[in-house]
Amino acid sequence: MSNAQDYIDSNIKKFENELFELLRIPSVSTDSSRKVDVKKAANFLVNQLQEIGLDNVTLHETVGHPIITAEKSGNSDGPTVLIYGHYDVQPSDPDDLWDTPPFEPTVKNGRVYARGASDDKGQSFIHLKAIESYLKTGTELPVNVKFILEGEEEIGSPNLIPFIKENKELLKCDMVLISDTAMFGENQPSITYGLRGLAYMEIMVTGPNRDLHSGIYGGTVENPANVLCEMIAKMKDRDGVIQIDGFYDDVEPLTSEMREAYKILPFDKEEFKNSLNLKALHGEKGYGTHERSSARPTLDVNGLWSGYQREGAKTVLPAKAGAKVSMRLVPNQDPHKIAEQFTKYVKSIAPDTVDVEVVSHHGGYPVVIDLEFYGLKAAAKAFEDIFQKEALFTREGGSIPIVSDFKKVLGVNSILMGFGLTKDALHSPNESFSLKDFHRGIKTSARFFEVLPDFVDQ
Ligand code: BES
Ligand code: MN
Ligand code: MN
Repeated sequence: MSNAQDYIDSNIKKFENELFELLRIPSVSTDSSRKVDVKKAANFLVNQLQEIGLDNVTLHETVGHPIITAEKSGNSDGPTVLIYGHYDVQPSDPDDLWDTPPFEPTVKNGRVYARGASDDKGQSFIHLKAIESYLKTGTELPVNVKFILEGEEEIGSPNLIPFIKENKELLKCDMVLISDTAMFGENQPSITYGLRGLAYMEIMVTGPNRDLHSGIYGGTVENPANVLCEMIAKMKDRDGVIQIDGFYDDVEPLTSEMREAYKILPFDKEEFKNSLNLKALHGEKGYGTHERSSARPTLDVNGLWSGYQREGAKTVLPAKAGAKVSMRLVPNQDPHKIAEQFTKYVKSIAPDTVDVEVVSHHGGYPVVIDLEFYGLKAAAKAFEDIFQKEALFTREGGSIPIVSDFKKVLGVNSILMGFGLTKDALHSPNESFSLKDFHRGIKTSARFFEVLPDFVDQ
């Protein structure tokens, strides 16, 4: 293979150390006290892109966190690939459940443990290093590349969406390449062709003007915590069917071909169950686990608070109760319409003894990418050459809100070339990323740029 591939093999330790440096920066986008750290991570990447030799490396300030763009023209006849990634991370809490500090990358059994190791610092860094392997060895880049790296993915990309609308020319490309998803299993490369959308809601119930003695007032005053639980209980039935009026109206049903394609995916239900220490799996009646996790919509409480939470017992009737509820969406559900339906439903089941407020947080549209798109075929070839195993095409349950905007605004497909694994524990304590997959990922990315021109118009 090429000089670029050799360069990757001989520089892997340097690449790892650079990644660890990035992982040490606590760039938690949702935490306003970390704003300087998010900026620090952005600056680190700006320096990297400049050092690698990209042109027009620019840090665009926004009202939130910065967006970074860069470009390098290679073979001008070749396609232009826009590489997207996010350098922000989820909060590390609960911190006491981490075995090693979340922002001190620690290598154990060939995996690096740190917040963002897989989602998405480790995965997006792969492409920087793949481009470096071309530019530092003087190997002709077979494609033109552009980068767009954001610091707000974990909060719904509020500033990236307007940015791409305003910078269509700057971002003009033939496809987007993203590594921010998971492989189907260990040593099983896979290309994700579908992601779910999201509607994230918050409910606040307010009763009396202060917390009350539950003996003196209990039985005479409506309890906001009870009301909240009653309302949540009405959102989904035991068969996992969501009760919100109109919720399923736009859901694209699974065709028999799709259901067959799901059946052939290698999946061990028992192993999945045991890996989570579950007594049984649960989901919408009539669907398999994979259908439930990627092609069917969901509704889940993500946070719930009210009353006394600490040690022992306190006899109190809480004045307030709140819940955060997220719904994962599938084509052709619209997050705005779903948010409206949710609000209407909650209001319709709220008793008039309390005050019920519903707020809509961020959201995102679902996507399914056309399997005939040539970029996916090139990605499959690159995976096969490096992993020595045929790639599977799968849909996943997570969301990357900007992917649907890349299609709608820039008119291009995204290639979701994931190198993570479900066991990477994204968003959980002890997030990790396999260093072997980091290495193979860089090689796969470099190989992808090499084979892509052969697939154009195929
Ligand atoms: N990388 C994930 C999305 C993902 C994970 C897709 C695994 C497929 C498989 C991304 O960083 C993420 O966490 N997205 C959020 C969306 C957001 C609006 C907060 C999500 O899915 O919860
Ligand atoms: Mn991510
Ligand atoms: Mn994430």
